[in-house]
Amino acid sequence: TELSHIRNFSIVAHIDHGKSTLADRLIQSTGTVSDRDMKEQLLDAMDIERERGITIKANTVRIDYVANDGQAYVLNLIDTPGHVDFAYEVSRSMRAVEGSLLVVDASQGVEAQTLANVYTALDAGHEIVPVLNKIDLPAAEPEQVKAQIEDVIGLDASDAVLISAKSGLGIPDVLEAIVTRLPAPKGERNAPLKAMLVDSWYDSYLGVVVLFRVMDGVIRKGDNIKMMQTGAKYGIDKLAVLKPAMVDVPELGPGDIGVFTASIKQVRDTKVGDTITHEKKGCETPLPGFKPSVPVVFCGLFPVDSAEFDDLRSAVEKLALNDASFSYEMESSAALGFGFRCGFLGLLHLEVIRDRLEREYDIDLITTAPSVVYHVHMRDGSVTELHNPADMPDLTYVDHIEEPRIKATVLVPDDYLGDVLKLCQDRRGIQMELTYAGSRAMVVYDLPLNEVVFDFYDRLKSISKGYASFDYEITGYREDNLVKMQVLVNDEPVDALSMMVHRDRAEMRGRAMCEKLKELIPRHMFKIPIQAAIGGKVIARETLAALRKDVTAKCYGGDVTRKKKLLEKQKAGKKKMRQFGKVEIPQQAFISALKMD
Ligand code: GTP
Repeated sequence: TELSHIRNFSIVAHIDHGKSTLADRLIQSTGTVSDRDMKEQLLDAMDIERERGITIKANTVRIDYVANDGQAYVLNLIDTPGHVDFAYEVSRSMRAVEGSLLVVDASQGVEAQTLANVYTALDAGHEIVPVLNKIDLPAAEPEQVKAQIEDVIGLDASDAVLISAKSGLGIPDVLEAIVTRLPAPKGERNAPLKAMLVDSWYDSYLGVVVLFRVMDGVIRKGDNIKMMQTGAKYGIDKLAVLKPAMVDVPELGPGDIGVFTASIKQVRDTKVGDTITHEKKGCETPLPGFKPSVPVVFCGLFPVDSAEFDDLRSAVEKLALNDASFSYEMESSAALGFGFRCGFLGLLHLEVIRDRLEREYDIDLITTAPSVVYHVHMRDGSVTELHNPADMPDLTYVDHIEEPRIKATVLVPDDYLGDVLKLCQDRRGIQMELTYAGSRAMVVYDLPLNEVVFDFYDRLKSISKGYASFDYEITGYREDNLVKMQVLVNDEPVDALSMMVHRDRAEMRGRAMCEKLKELIPRHMFKIPIQAAIGGKVIARETLAALRKDVTAKCYGGDVTRKKKLLEKQKAGKKKMRQFGKVEIPQQAFISALKMD
């Protein structure tokens, strides 16, 4: 296809504003998929989605469209992950296209992820067409939302396309706007091959499928290619476009978006943002700005029933096959037995994986305190990355510790603003911005990531009755007064509950933790001290009283020596228990103890 007849675009939106529904309509109304197949196709897509989890690009599709000018166009829609933890992937995939449709629910207005995604699109140099969806709803206020888009984002919204993706109203206008308002791609057909790896996924029949955008040159079936960042070399087995089912093509040139397979074993061998070129006579410089995505939140996952360890292992391996950003290694803990230390791109990513393990693979899990990655600067000048508080080196060797900070953007209706500010303040936040967009406030906070990984989302949602929306990006590392807090139950450290905390908040966290555990651990036959400690110093303590079995009750009066004997026995037994006995900590205690109120 000639470059001037190609349009490459993505759709940016807050969750639930109708991105998928609009994509389906565009596919359907152009006859890309016949009505008869539509239902089936969508079901297929859902299956893939289930298999691929959150990195799915079910809506990446090539649409053939004859515009009002009588010319035939190819419209390539790339679906970007709608997930705050995938900021890097989103930003890369946006660099593969020239424009975006900005979909805003006309009854809801601009939300936190609308902002985050539209700024990413603007950074990628996109032309943007605002689309107001759900205008069929009585609560829709298109004029107000237009004004909001102009105020908050600074985009001209006077030409916004008004649609109802549900009823199909306005869909032809969207198609025309794509052709007339978005730019055609640029590229050099005679230059060496330069293509961007946009995404990849595992297909049980085809193996790893790579989605790519050709910048320059031509890629053909049978070509020998190499990935410039990883250095890996492959031969192209299959070359296709997505309509959305795969349709084989002999070659793809500048501006084209397609997929190939090349006997690649696992998704982690492909890096989003890598540059694909020919093995011989390849291009000289890779696309700029590549960085491999690295896990930022870690936690331990252990089966509640240790007999389920092998099930957990195979489930974790399966999930990792398709999700290169999820990492794992085996871990063992005195309290929890065998499990895995897992790394995630963020908290939502963690929740999604844990959820899938429990629901799809039916494994009951204990999740240990999530931890961010700390940079521990040693006195000898070396720096260690700390993923697990249990591995914290001896303090005498430590010079200082740095923790990751984030820029968090929260959009919230006025009524709940006070509570949101208090929450951010309580979590060691530094307010950066506070502005208004209609009846909504937008607050930007600089926060330590570690204060967000426990239950920030939950708290935010509950104090705002579900109305607040949230987005964040990691901004860097900063030194702070951080210490490792250990929890000792019956004088035994419970590693799963160890955590890094700010020194000023340690007492408070320690006390709260001990009080919670006192409620959560059932009484035993012996007294159980529950302590929080920093180094050797106890900073909080509770004592769980023993269940006292009154063994003398059955001795009706009389026999004093027998009574004495029994009491002695009881005491000895207690001692024994204290010495050797294991305290049973219920699973719920691990989860609840980590939540702050
Ligand atoms: P995620 O896939 O979760 O990111 O959401 P999305 O942005 O893709 O939204 P989706 O298309 O799934 O739509 C969210 C909800 O809004 C669904 O229940 C849709 O049926 C509904 N919806 C989408 N478009 C319209 C519309 O024009 N009018 C009305 N009334 N509802 C709509």
